Amino acid sequence: MADTHKESVPVVEAKGARIPLLGLGTWELRGRACARVVEQALRLGYRHVDTAEMYDNEREVGEGLHASGVKRNKIFVTTKIWPAHFAPRELERAARDCLVRLRLSEVDLLLLHWPNPQIPLAETLGALSKVRRDGLARNIGVSNFTVALIEQATKLSGEPLLCDQVECHPYLDQTKVIAACRRHGMAVVAYSPIARGNARSDEVLKRIGAAHKKTAAQVCLHYLVQQNIVVIPRTSKVQRLEENSAIFDFALGKSEMAEIAALARHDGRVIDWAFSGQPEWD
Ligand SMILES: NC(=O)c1ccc[n+]([C@@H]2O[C@H](COP(=O)([O-])OP(=O)(O)OC[C@H]3O[C@@H](n4cnc5c(N)ncnc54)[C@H](OP(=O)(O)O)[C@@H]3O)[C@@H](O)[C@H]2O)c1
Repeated sequence: MADTHKESVPVVEAKGARIPLLGLGTWELRGRACARVVEQALRLGYRHVDTAEMYDNEREVGEGLHASGVKRNKIFVTTKIWPAHFAPRELERAARDCLVRLRLSEVDLLLLHWPNPQIPLAETLGALSKVRRDGLARNIGVSNFTVALIEQATKLSGEPLLCDQVECHPYLDQTKVIAACRRHGMAVVAYSPIARGNARSDEVLKRIGAAHKKTAAQVCLHYLVQQNIVVIPRTSKVQRLEENSAIFDFALGKSEMAEIAALARHDGRVIDWAFSGQPEWD
């Protein structure tokens, strides 16, 4: 089937790259179902797909990409290297393995998935930069980096860092990390942008959504893209692919934005840092 989507997804520009503001998250999507959702998303107009070696689905993501019929140069593909592979030689091998599984000659963005305090950051960034120079990744970046780590990484990296991919949604105040990214001209990519589904039943988001004929999830995603933050919601349901992409045809007012920002709370994180085995640094 051809690409049926009429309008293109808006992009955010950083370091000379253009990242579609909406991407498809794929964590926990597996097997045939994963390939099908990726294929459908691309047919519906998504132009950005987020995976990771840790998700154990790069083969299926690759299948979906190839089955969609959308030209490779129209799709922005991100994958991530797991911290156990941050030693320079291992990082390069891991990056090559990702490409084999995805059946691609390069990815658009290769990220360090989580910080790894066991391996000097300079060495890892040296290897990541080399991977870019060798043509395996058009852009490189980081994920789950704190403000302090962004400051270190931007000094140490031989190649520009395109983004920090971090947990970001209305329940979590990420003002500081967003400001650090902006200072360094880096994009912010929001993971778990609907708080792992928690935002769907939020009364404030539902009320604001009713005024715009949108769902709570759509308001939640729009709140981020209106701030030029890239969102990568994940769904396993084809009907929700459409819902999550219909987020660019309305605008939130100043007071609505402020009301949503006020939902942030101290314990708003939905991803536990202990999950990665890494301490939370600041
Ligand atoms: N860099 C990192 O360390 C990191 C960490 C976490 C996530 N990520 C990336 O970010 C992506 C998104 O984050 P996430 O998967 O944690 O969470 P999320 O996208 O915030 O939420 C996913 C959950 O919301 C549900 N959902 C999706 N659309 C919905 C809608 N319109 N209405 C109601 N429920 C909806 C999904 O259920 P259904 O499947 O039933 O629709 C799923 O349970 C991941 O898939 C991954 O690619 C990166």
